[in-house]
Amino acid sequence: MQTLALGSYHIHIGPIGPSVSAFLKGRHFSQLFVLVDENTKAHCWPAFAPALSGYPSTLIEIPAGETHKNIATCQLIWEQLMKASAARDALLINLGGGVIGDMGGFAASTFKRGIPFIQVPTTLLSQVDASIGGKLGIDFMQVKNSIGLFSDPQAVLIDPAFLRTLSGREIRSGYAEILKHSLIADAGQWGRLNTLAQLDTAEWSEIIPQSLLVKQRIVAADPFEKGIRKALNFGHTIGHAVEGIALETDTPLLHGEAIAVGMICEAWLSHKKLGLPQETLHTITNYLLRVYGKPAIHKTDYTAYLQLMGNDKKNEGQAINFSLLPAAGQVEVNCTATQEQIIGALDYYRQLPSPAPS
Ligand SMILES: NC(=O)c1ccc[n+]([C@@H]2O[C@H](COP(=O)([O-])OP(=O)(O)OC[C@H]3O[C@@H](n4cnc5c(N)ncnc54)[C@H](O)[C@@H]3O)[C@@H](O)[C@H]2O)c1
Repeated sequence: MQTLALGSYHIHIGPIGPSVSAFLKGRHFSQLFVLVDENTKAHCWPAFAPALSGYPSTLIEIPAGETHKNIATCQLIWEQLMKASAARDALLINLGGGVIGDMGGFAASTFKRGIPFIQVPTTLLSQVDASIGGKLGIDFMQVKNSIGLFSDPQAVLIDPAFLRTLSGREIRSGYAEILKHSLIADAGQWGRLNTLAQLDTAEWSEIIPQSLLVKQRIVAADPFEKGIRKALNFGHTIGHAVEGIALETDTPLLHGEAIAVGMICEAWLSHKKLGLPQETLHTITNYLLRVYGKPAIHKTDYTAYLQLMGNDKKNEGQAINFSLLPAAGQVEVNCTATQEQIIGALDYYRQLPSPAPS
């Protein structure tokens, strides 16, 4: 088992049974609750339940998916906790992807002014990104993560074995954040990853800890996103806008698929504004197209993209904020770009040839 420290808690990477035993040993909780959705109940709970043998627990099941990451679902969680008379020293175990982790953490942190919780992330995205860093919350009035708080779990227990039941599409989505971590802070890892042709042969138990080190270092330096934590937004300014517009269509994109589009566009901006070498821009573009194909973006949506970018909660004042790459493995935060430059980046992406199906 590998362990990383982050603030007041530890991130354990390895088989779930020993991680749970090590966590529970010497700690006392009056009750244990496990939050699942229908998919993690079917695929992850059977592997997780034996780790709790000897510790009676109550399952709380909520519907899966981003559309349920809202106050109504939180109410379901709070009702279950209340009906079971959960006290301040009860533990909520969030067994699932980023939706379960963000919402379960939020529900726990606000129930009776806060009960302890741990994250047991079961998607690649949540294992390398969402479960780390203490950002919790729900969507409100169609604005993602607009209600929430920073609050740390007691531990994060990561077992790559959970990924075996995850779809190839969800794996690719999480992989975008791994690529982002390497591009902003780990050129060596980027060099290895951009030769990885088939994700189903990837060694996740080696790739995940290396990727986590990047997020751990950045979050430890700036837990409340006042400065360097913005580095993690590479690809996300344009990516979030592309994700938002795609969500309103019949062909929504998963988060990582939209971020891949954003990373190509923002690599082009990095080339224009910070001198990211042409060759690196080509390597990034070609690899991302190979893994993600080329989701379409349309000129008719440019105004809506720009409007969404203008509303991003990470902006300061009027300027649209970007984190860009002067080179692979390096990042500069608080960059701005003009509307023409942003349109140039979207045009660069739109004019790329569609990759041949592999
Ligand atoms: N807090 C943060 O810092 C942070 C960072 C990035 C993303 N997020 C949030 O994370 C969420 C996205 O997370 P996600 O991509 O994990 O989505 P998700 O939680 O919706 O999970 C994706 C799907 O996979 C299913 N699933 C989960 N584990 C499975 C498994 N092992 N086998 C089979 N199916 C499984 C889920 O039921 C769901 O249907 C978004 O809400 C986003 O805002 C938060």
